[in-house]
Amino acid sequence: MENQNFVTKNSEETKALAKKLALHLRRGDVIGLRGELGSGKTTFVQGLSEGLHILEGYRALSPTFTLINEYPCHSISLFHMDFYRLEKEAEVETLGFDSYFGVGVCVIEWFEKAPQVLPLDFLEIQFQWISESVREICFVSHGDRSQKILNL
Ligand SMILES: Nc1ncnc2c1ncn2[C@@H]1O[C@H](COP(=O)(O)OP(=O)(O)OP(=O)(O)O)[C@@H](O)[C@H]1O
Ligand SMILES: [Mg+2]
Repeated sequence: MENQNFVTKNSEETKALAKKLALHLRRGDVIGLRGELGSGKTTFVQGLSEGLHILEGYRALSPTFTLINEYPCHSISLFHMDFYRLEKEAEVETLGFDSYFGVGVCVIEWFEKAPQVLPLDFLEIQFQWISESVREICFVSHGDRSQKILNL
């Protein structure tokens, strides 16, 4: 099946789209988010965390300064990473992000700064700023598992 495109008219619609996706995710799934500053990546992760039933007291925040946040959810953990502040591609390897793959669901903002860290099969989601409150969101699969997620 080909890629899927969506248009959202406010941040709630973006979160609702992420919540639907969350229904199909399982341990080991890796999602890479691509799009300019303010295009809605962290907003989407907030929807994912809601869809995975994030535990009370936790809230999805931008991991720009911490590089990784872990959110305990109902039956699985969500690891939220952000490569924006990586100085060098090599840095990412010493930080051991890949050790989280397989432990829970991993979602990575600015993954294109170090794409070699991601497994070959991951779901790419592209965010495009259309206007103040409108975003175009495109799902692109990179293998059998990510394609299966889109087919569900
Ligand atoms: N349709 C929409 N979808 C998502 N966010 C929207 C939408 N319309 C307006 N917004 C607003 O755009 C902003 C998106 O910010 P967000 O932090 O999610 O972006 P980001 O892609 O994570 O940026 P960064 O690269 O800086 O981490 C929020 O303030 C959100 O309320
Ligand atoms: Mg962000």
